[in-house]
Amino acid sequence: MAEAWSSVAPGIWSCVFGTPESFTPRSVLQIEPSWDALRRMGGTPFPFDASFVHMERVGTRLALRLPLGPDEPVFGLGLQFLRLNHRGRTRYLRVNSDPLHDTGETHAPVPFYVGGSGYAVLFDTARIVTLHIASAVRQSDAGHWVEAVLAAPGVEVFVFGGPTPLQAVQRYNLLSGGGFLPPRWGLGFWHRTPKDDSADEVIREALEYRNRDFPCDVIGLEPGWQSAAYPCSFEWSRERFPDPQAFVRFLQAAGFTVNLWEHPWVSRKAPIHAALAPLSGSHTVWGGLAPDWSLPGPQAIIAQQHIHEHLNLGIGGYKLDECDGGELKGEGWMFPAHATFPSGQDGEQMRQVYGLLLQKHTAEMFWRRNRRTYGLVRASGAWAAPLPFALYTDLYDPRQYVRAICNAGFSGLLFTAEVRHATTPQEWVRRTQLACLSAVGMLDAWASGTKPWTFPEVEPAFRQAVELRMRLLPYLYTAFARYHFDGIPPLRPMALEPNAGAARLADDQYMLGPDLLVAPLFAGETERTVQLPAGYWYAFETGVRYSGDHPVTIAAPDRAILLAREGAIIPLGPPLRRSPRAGDHVPLEIRHYGATPGHTRLYDDDGETLDFERGAFRWIDLEVDVRGEGSRLGRIQQGPTVGGLVYEPIEWHFLG
Ligand code: GAL
Repeated sequence: MAEAWSSVAPGIWSCVFGTPESFTPRSVLQIEPSWDALRRMGGTPFPFDASFVHMERVGTRLALRLPLGPDEPVFGLGLQFLRLNHRGRTRYLRVNSDPLHDTGETHAPVPFYVGGSGYAVLFDTARIVTLHIASAVRQSDAGHWVEAVLAAPGVEVFVFGGPTPLQAVQRYNLLSGGGFLPPRWGLGFWHRTPKDDSADEVIREALEYRNRDFPCDVIGLEPGWQSAAYPCSFEWSRERFPDPQAFVRFLQAAGFTVNLWEHPWVSRKAPIHAALAPLSGSHTVWGGLAPDWSLPGPQAIIAQQHIHEHLNLGIGGYKLDECDGGELKGEGWMFPAHATFPSGQDGEQMRQVYGLLLQKHTAEMFWRRNRRTYGLVRASGAWAAPLPFALYTDLYDPRQYVRAICNAGFSGLLFTAEVRHATTPQEWVRRTQLACLSAVGMLDAWASGTKPWTFPEVEPAFRQAVELRMRLLPYLYTAFARYHFDGIPPLRPMALEPNAGAARLADDQYMLGPDLLVAPLFAGETERTVQLPAGYWYAFETGVRYSGDHPVTIAAPDRAILLAREGAIIPLGPPLRRSPRAGDHVPLEIRHYGATPGHTRLYDDDGETLDFERGAFRWIDLEVDVRGEGSRLGRIQQGPTVGGLVYEPIEWHFLG
């Protein structure tokens, strides 16, 4: 069947098969693509022979067949914990909090795959998609196919050209609207307090960070801040938090941003319960209402309550929990597929997009006040790059965490490798090193009551990991700016690196920002093998040089392995106790690695508002010349600050 592919943007095409339902992730998110950036990327040829694409209907199912290269690896599919290359597997992409059965179900499945030869495909549907990735073999031919199956009358398919896998992912992120830019405080260190702590206990814990001179930007409250959780009232517990306004002001004055846990299920004790009842689904979850988040009514009722009770007090963000359901934990953890909603959607559709809806409408409460937010969410889906949330999980295997970081990077998602507890001091340190090099550097003590100094013998190592994150702030913030402006994921798998060679299948290391390769170590390890892409790579702190294109074994008894590529210029700040605010004077250390001249740009803006979307930002040019005899000269061109930081003094260090 020769379907017509129409051009959406340079290098992006879409094709409508059958008659798609109008309720899709793209329609509910009301996406505004980054057209200018897409145009700047320019065109590329359609990546495969479109005449091979075939649709058929089998009963209530729609089956689509797309060609695949003979040995082509297939990446993506959202937040996946168990494998990187999905070739040879059948993946059932349903939102589920229980991702460990290797079916493809996870907190954030995305019917989006990246072909290793350099293109990507997205099915824009709120239906569960089953992808047979060279795993369904037809009698008639032994060809290589991806077969996508869904119970829907139609679907719109998007194809993103490369020619490299990274460019295909950039096009996807830019058509989504570009990656989000977090507030600068969001990239500092986060601490979540025990779930039943009172205001006094939280304040005591927060002040301990200051008294011990330990970095911390965000204090996160867990369920007990509410008068009822499971399901939620969204109102403060006056018993534990008698004066919420004074509590938030106190923490703000001490330099913290406060983040609130909630899940979307509405308790009878919530004052908004009565108004929401007629606007909710047929079935309850955790015994609470499941508001129809696709309708303006519930969006407005919840926003009004949240603005009045939380945002007006100075709350900076949310942890949106349990919007992903779970089958193993028993009945009522998620509405069933046959649930009905006032908007006309059923439970299958609503479940697949619930996390997206929550993120969008939560973020919009802040955006309407010209404030950025950065939060946590446990369910997500397609087109999510502009939504300012990182995913997390109750799983706790650090190797799966690293794989999740890699996989999230393919599909417009981010993952926090939070640290919660440990059985040995070594494990504590290794987990913290990883957390601090993930999307959110967070100690989540909701159940464990742990603190950075829980294992006194390794407190200096814990501190070092957190201080490394603080030093990396200018670099990390710039990486997020490139996510926003160019669609380049700030944390990404090796398969998105040019010249990755054999390293492209590595799922235990990843790229952080443009030029740093992270190879975390796990408890009990003192050295590990790192797969290096071509070129020279340099140890971040010492400048020791490694030659790429093959695996190397590196000893790292006390730190995570961080390697800078040849010619990299890395801007670093001081290990502040909290992230800098607009107008602050901040010393800048600029490191250059190797003998190759380099050029990079450091991003800066006010760190908190959306004024950057209206041009209030600057790019600071950093350049290194290499003269005869290998002497190096660094140049910085700052231009006027645009409501951001003042970088001074500047110090150059040449390594390698
Ligand atoms: C879980 C969540 C944890 C913690 C806990 C509080 O669902 O994954 O991180 O927030 O709820 O009850």
